[in-house]
Amino acid sequence: MYSKGFREELKQTLESIESEGLYKDELVIVGSQSAQVRLADGRTVLNFCANNYLGLADHPDIMAAAKKGMDEHGFGMASVRFICGTLDLHKELEAELSTFLGMEDTILYAACFDANSGVFEALLGTDDAIISDQLNHASLIDGIRLCKAARYRYQHNDMADLEKQLKEAVAKGARQKVIVTDGVFSMDGVVADLKGITDLAEQYDALVLVDDCHATGFMGESGRGTHEHHNVMGKVDILTGTLGKALGGGSGGYVSGPKEMIDLLRQRSRPYLFSNTLAPAVAAGSLKVLRMLERSTYLRERLMENTLYYREGLKKLGLTVRGTEHPIVPVMVGDAALSQKISKRMLEKGIFMVGFFYPVVPKGEARLRTQISAAHSRNDLDQVLDAWKEIAEEFNLVD
Ligand SMILES: Cc1ncc(COP(=O)(O)O)c(C=O)c1O
Repeated sequence: MYSKGFREELKQTLESIESEGLYKDELVIVGSQSAQVRLADGRTVLNFCANNYLGLADHPDIMAAAKKGMDEHGFGMASVRFICGTLDLHKELEAELSTFLGMEDTILYAACFDANSGVFEALLGTDDAIISDQLNHASLIDGIRLCKAARYRYQHNDMADLEKQLKEAVAKGARQKVIVTDGVFSMDGVVADLKGITDLAEQYDALVLVDDCHATGFMGESGRGTHEHHNVMGKVDILTGTLGKALGGGSGGYVSGPKEMIDLLRQRSRPYLFSNTLAPAVAAGSLKVLRMLERSTYLRERLMENTLYYREGLKKLGLTVRGTEHPIVPVMVGDAALSQKISKRMLEKGIFMVGFFYPVVPKGEARLRTQISAAHSRNDLDQVLDAWKEIAEEFNLVD
């Protein structure tokens, strides 16, 4: 029974989260996800905090494909894949993802969180070693915890430390060694050094797994991801990713890799075996996205132009910005309370952006994490840069 005592305990925990300034409020949007969003209070604001990199979340052709998928295949699957939940659409989507990413085979999950939770335990055991970047996404950390392999952590994007950890794993006689990294680190917009990582993997006979959630669809010349961006396609053994960001922003995740690995995941991966699969509309809409991206790189080019324009504009204002080329653009302000004040002032100016602070990022490194989309117009970008100019003066952000 839900006792009074337990209720009180939970209330106190919530109060302490709130008093530390860490309570997460959710802004309610009453229309579709886009460059501008309509809020429940009737305002329309510019949106600089979605992972809608290619602006496809409300694209009419994708919505039409999703509707057609639902008309032809119904609303839901009501089953896990191996019982009676596999559609032709799921098989087509897996095949087209494999082609797009340049991998042998692909398995879909309900989310990339599930893909990352389910990939390690199914493939690795006590004799193996996982060597993981210290800033990897929570879902990779959880997936690694669920697996019995020995764990090694290397300093963020630090190739010297990665080599040290690899040497240690070799000295301990690890059977398989797997280097695990985010392709792009989402708090900083920093791209992993995949050239350095794949070189070390070759030298120490290790496998490489990259979570490319913040890259698939737009990084690299044809948008295949960080492996294309770094010219190491064929050297990354396993890719995990999401359909919930650039690829239309619906939902769903996947693991892509060698055929036997993917087959084994179908047999053993728990989030795949014990959970319902993608709804038909989501699978059909996501397929449409991949077909659009195979035909044209226009949106990724527009995204990159927008990103450069915005980054240059911030630099000219003298603001401190992390990363160099990615549409995740964190504007550093240092103090946690200041990041909250700026986020509030921006919203008053009709611009939606979120402040991130400790413990999500290190103490003293609070920031406004802004994200650029191909859907932003030049006018939208000028508006946010004008707002930054005013904010920089109001809060003395520049010396
Ligand atoms: C790096 C990274 N990996 C995994 C995920 C989880 O993706 P999904 O939303 O498909 O569960 C996210 C989403 O925040 C992410 O940023």
